[in-house]
Amino acid sequence: MRETILPLFDDWYAQAQAGEPNDPNAVALATVDADGQPAVRMVLLKGHDERGFVFYTNRESRKADALAANPVAALLFHWKSIRRQIRIEGRVEPVSNAESDAYFASRSRDSQLGAWASDQSRPLDARETFEARFEAMKTRFDGGDVPRPPHWGGYRVIPAKIEFWQDRAHRLHERRLFVRAGDGWDEILLYP
Ligand SMILES: Cc1cc2nc3c(=O)[nH]c(=O)nc-3n(C[C@H](O)[C@H](O)[C@H](O)COP(=O)(O)O)c2cc1C
Repeated sequence: MRETILPLFDDWYAQAQAGEPNDPNAVALATVDADGQPAVRMVLLKGHDERGFVFYTNRESRKADALAANPVAALLFHWKSIRRQIRIEGRVEPVSNAESDAYFASRSRDSQLGAWASDQSRPLDARETFEARFEAMKTRFDGGDVPRPPHWGGYRVIPAKIEFWQDRAHRLHERRLFVRAGDGWDEILLYP
């Protein structure tokens, strides 16, 4: 039984940050919609701690609809440069407005305006429409701060399982699965 898996995650994440040429925080996010249809797409990890793993997105997007119907997700990091993957599964909760506000405020102004301009996951008739909406948001917020759009915020994946996979010679790979048990984690080795 282990109290926390955070130091192990942090150790691998630090190695990924040192080794990956770009976006070591890129992670595949899998969701399941109301019809049981899975979908997967990349997002960026913007925070993690004992509570879980946080990403930000449009709360009216396809992924948000799936999370409203089925508030569970799987995350997959694959760091090619260090030949490792981490798989995470668990339930999902929205992060607080205060936490979303703080992260939104840290983004570049253009990213903030982009969040206002994008109707994420909705059909777009032409690229020019999107660019015009972006310009309109520039005018709307000219001279002031850009507040967080009400439809934009974070989600936290609360891990119930987390597996660390390490490439080894002769495909004798190493898999360490941690399963939440009460206040701690059970460790199970898996055949590759
Ligand atoms: C490397 C990478 C990082 C991305 N990061 C995010 C992100 O943090 N948040 C986000 O909403 N979309 C991000 N995207 C775009 C998503 O993959 C996706 O296109 C978008 O969120 C719409 O997904 P949905 O229609 O399933 O909701 C990223 C794409 C890539 C390739």
